[in-house]
Formats: sequence, structure tokens, C-alpha cells
Amino acid sequence: MNIETKYWPAELSRAGIEEAATAIAAGGVVAFPTETVYGLGGDARSTEAVGRIFAAKGRPSDNPLIVHLAHGASVAGLVKEIGAVEAALMDAFWPGPLTLVLPVREGAVSPLVTAGLDTVAVRVPAHDLARELIERAGCPIAAPSANRSGRPSPTQARHVLEDLNGRIDGVLDGGATGVGVESTVVRVVDGMIHILRPGGVTREQLRDAVVGLAIVAEETKEEARAERRAATAAVGVGTEASLSSRGEQGSSRSFATDAEAPRSPGVKYAHYAPQGEMLLVTGAFERLSSTVQAQARQAADAGKRVAVLSCSEHAAGYRADIVYDCGPRNEPGKAAQTLYATLRECDEQGVDYIVAEGYPEDGIGAALMNRLRKASGGREIEAR
Ligand code: TXA
Ligand code: MG
Repeated sequence: MNIETKYWPAELSRAGIEEAATAIAAGGVVAFPTETVYGLGGDARSTEAVGRIFAAKGRPSDNPLIVHLAHGASVAGLVKEIGAVEAALMDAFWPGPLTLVLPVREGAVSPLVTAGLDTVAVRVPAHDLARELIERAGCPIAAPSANRSGRPSPTQARHVLEDLNGRIDGVLDGGATGVGVESTVVRVVDGMIHILRPGGVTREQLRDAVVGLAIVAEETKEEARAERRAATAAVGVGTEASLSSRGEQGSSRSFATDAEAPRSPGVKYAHYAPQGEMLLVTGAFERLSSTVQAQARQAADAGKRVAVLSCSEHAAGYRADIVYDCGPRNEPGKAAQTLYATLRECDEQGVDYIVAEGYPEDGIGAALMNRLRKASGGREIEAR
């Protein structure tokens, strides 16, 4: 793959939108900013365009894409029906970082978009450039994050070029994205909201919008299951339900409902892995820094180039090759905004060991911790 990738700078983006929209209407694939991360967009109805998205990213074909729309009203043409809860969620959060999984209307999008599932994921991004691009292109736009598979999602146009230059038709630069982590993916089943992927819209916001509905974090359950399977295999005995694991209460009950539990195919793939190894340190604020420093020193003693991802309060106190100040402890939104750029910089700086402070898991902290856990590939300790 080696095609010319056009770059439309922020100042030219109005003119760039026209060219980018024309490219997409002609079956091309173009990266564009959203409020969460940059997406790589193509006409969702065109199997050829969608095929080019998968090829450019090196994405497994069983991981479906989110369809982006300029207006909530366009969803009706793509899905079989919109339930009352989904309608309320669209009302409350669109445009915005919430993706809804709905029963797909046959033939509305290429089967590659849905990876053969009978559902389609849809959202209306809260970003003027994105919505204008979709409107001008005149089609629903399928768009995964615009990174090579397995790399951190891009939050700046230059990240897109690092990964995809020569593999896509162009990138529309809209500056750094606001939220920094991807949209929240939810599916409503039997009056319960299942969070398939935590993201820009928080669990608390969902709860406030649909008072009285149960909200289930499926991804946490999925990870807990994977851990349990690994643990069961390792000890070679015991039933799954006899081992308890993080993030799951009443595990036997959730196993009983496994067959009906909605899943997100993306969950099973490793994500956001930096080139170096990463360790996540959780625990009370007062205890974090001594454990983080000890781990950083141990890695340095072993000859590693070490980076620490720290809150502002602790940043000046750490001794390591690089210390990143990720913002105040009580503003996890700041850390979420810069996380992917920081992970990319660690790679550029040749860092081979990263020690990251954990955050409280309420609000946007839930999405942040989910991404930190993925980046650290399960290497996590508690400060004591
Ligand atoms: O913020 C975002 O959502 C960004 C921007 C570009 O909009 N997009 C994004 O797309 O993160 P991607 O492809 O990197 O992640 C899409 C997620 C995957 O975890 C995928 O498995 C899930 O959505 N997904 C897509 N269609 C689905 C479906 N029909 N059922 C369940 N999960 C689905
Ligand atoms: Mg992605």
C-alpha cells in the first residue's frame, strides 16, 4: 500500500472538508477529528470503502465499526427499531461521545461494517468538522479510530500520519481532540443498559439520564471472565464461579445469564499497547508515590529507561528518566485527554518501562482506568 495521503491543515479545514467529502463520496478513506479521537472514515454503504478501512488499519475483520451520522434523525434509516430507552439516550447525549448498538436494517450498511452481526453501532459526534464532513459526503460514515491496530488511538492529526501515511487518502486536521478517549458503547437489553465499552459519557451521566434503569458494565465482566479463565487454567482445578474477581458481584448469577449478555467484539483484542512494558499502581493517594518510586527505581536498576505517569501533586517528587504530569488527581479528565499522546511519546523516547498512577474509578476515571489497564496488559499492583 503506498498512496498519496493529503493533509488539510486546520486553517484550511473548511476548504479541506469539501475535498475530503468528495474523496469519501468517491469511495476513498479519510481521517477526521471527532470530540473523542480521530476516526478513519469511509462510506458505510460501500464494501470497497469499508474494506479499505480494515486494510489500512490492519484490523481483524470480525471487529465491527461505528457508523457516524450528522443528525440523530438519520438513524431511523439504518436500524429496524429505536426503543424508548435508546431514544431517551440519543436525546440526552447526541451529539456527543455515546455510541448505541441497535438492530441493523438489512442492506442499510455494508456487511463488513457490522462484521456479520445483526446489530449496528451508531453515533453523532459533537465536532463541527466531523458533522460537516458527514453532511457534505452525503452518506453514513463508518469510522474506527484512525490508528494502526494495536497502537494508541490518535488524538492529533500527526498521530494519524505516524500510523497511516501512504495508506489513506487524507487527513483533516482539527487540532487536538477534547475528550481524548473513545465514546462509551452501550446496548439496551430487557430494560438494562449494558456498557460494552466505558468512554466519554460516564456511568453517572447515563444513570441521571435514565433514572431507575439498571446499568451493567459488560467490559469489566468480560475482562473478569478472561482473568478467571486464565486463573482456572493455571491452577488446573476449580469451577469458574468459585474464583472471585475484580468488578463482579454475584458472579454465579452473571454466569447464568452469560448466553444473553451482549458483547463487544473489540473487547477481546489487545489494545493501546505501548512498546515498553507498563505497570499500573492503584491504591490510596497517600500510599501511591512510594510504591511508584520503588517500582521505577527497581526498573532503572535493571537498566531500563523508565517513565512515570504521575498526577500533578506527585510529579515534582519522582526521580525517573521522564516524568509526565498528567494533571491534578481530582481531574482525571485531564489525564484522559493526554493519555494516548503520552503513550506515543514514551515510544518515541525509547522508554522501555512505564509506571502509571491509578485514578479513582468514578466519572471519566472509569474510562481512563479501562485504557490504563489495557495499556498495561494486566500488570497491576496495589500500593500498600
Ligand atoms: O469515539 C469513538 O468511538 C471513536 C471515534 C472515531 O468515533 N471510534 C472508535 O471506533 O473508537 P473503534 O472501531 O476503534 O471502536 C469501536 C468499538 C469496538 O470495540 C467494536 O467492537 C464496538 O465498538 N462495536 C462496533 N459495532 C458493534 C456492534 N454491532 N456490537 C457490539 N460492539 C460493536
Ligand atoms: Mg479503536
